[in-house]
Formats: sequence, structure tokens, C-alpha cells
Amino acid sequence: MKQVRDKSFVPFIASATLQERIKILAQEINKDYGGKNPLMIGVLNGSFMFLADLFKSIEIECEITFIRVSSYQNTESTGKVKQILGLKEEIQNRDIIIVEDIVDTGMTMQEILGQLASQKPASIKIMTMLFKPEALKVPLKLDYVGFEIENKFVVGYGLDYDGFGRNLDAIYVLKE
Ligand code: IMP
Ligand code: MG
Repeated sequence: MKQVRDKSFVPFIASATLQERIKILAQEINKDYGGKNPLMIGVLNGSFMFLADLFKSIEIECEITFIRVSSYQNTESTGKVKQILGLKEEIQNRDIIIVEDIVDTGMTMQEILGQLASQKPASIKIMTMLFKPEALKVPLKLDYVGFEIENKFVVGYGLDYDGFGRNLDAIYVLKE
């Protein structure tokens, strides 16, 4: 059992299981993007550990960068806007792979996808380490999924609870 702040978490996906799956995902990228040089865009903070391990098994020519998504901001017109911060690269005509730690409601990914797609990349695909199908609220096509999980709160391997727990080398689920 692991204590993160005021909550207890129990083992959910072991480190070896994660690493095994990540190797397979990397092989899929190596196969699908042979002869291309995609740009992987990791969404901070959660994706840093997953993408670091994945990237080590990428054998094609591939670039990497990271973005951050600002929290919801009120605007007079739309009410809610999430802004992408930190993207310096030109993505027009590039093959883009967005890499997330987890897709929950899908709202964050939908927003990122819309904003990046408007910059006219050659192609755009989504990879997420974890996906909670039951929580999904918007239509979203996920191209590479590490693990589909139940709609429960998880921490570790980059994922946080209140900023903590990211350092755990495996995924843990909230104890019931
Ligand atoms: P979405 O917009 O609802 O899909 O939420 C995506 C973001 O919420 C992720 O990038 C995570 O930062 C966070 N999140 C969703 N579920 C969990 C969880 O179970 N543990 C930790 N963070 C989560
Ligand atoms: Mg995240």
C-alpha cells in the first residue's frame, strides 16, 4: 500500500507490465512511421515518465517536444478556454503524435487536438498510456492506448494526486 497525502493507494499496474506494454507501443510507432520523422508532443506534467521510457525504444527518426495546457480560464466570449503553452515547433505538414498520461473525460485531449489540428499538420494521432472508457464525454479517436482501465482514480508513473505520487514507478489505484 502507498500513502499519498491523505489517501491510500493499492497496486494496480506493475512496473514490469507497464514496461512490457510500452515496448509494444514503441514497436507500433516504429512500424507505422517507418520512413517518416514524426514529432511526439508530450503533455506535461503527467506524460513525462511514460514518454521518457517510450522514447528510448523508438528506433525511427523522431523528434520530441512538450506542451502544457493551462487550466480553464474564463473569457468573455466562450466562458472556458484551455490554452496550449510551450509549443515552439512549426507543426504544419508534420506528422504529429500527441502523448498523454490518461484520457478521462477526453475534454483536455479534444481541446489540444482542435488547437493543433488548426495548424495544419500532415497527420495527427493520439497516444495515451491510460484510458477510462466509461468516463469519456466527447467523441475522440484514440490511436494508441496503453491500458483501458475502470473509472477509478489512479496515481504513479507520472500521474499525481494533488501534485504528489508522480515518482511511483508503477500505477496505484485509490483504496476503497
Ligand atoms: P480529461 O480532460 O478529463 O480527459 O482529464 C485529463 C487529465 O485529468 C489528465 O491529463 C490528468 O492530468 C487528469 N486525470 C484524469 N484522471 C486521473 C486519475 O485517475 N489520476 C490522476 N490524474 C487524472
Ligand atoms: Mg495530464
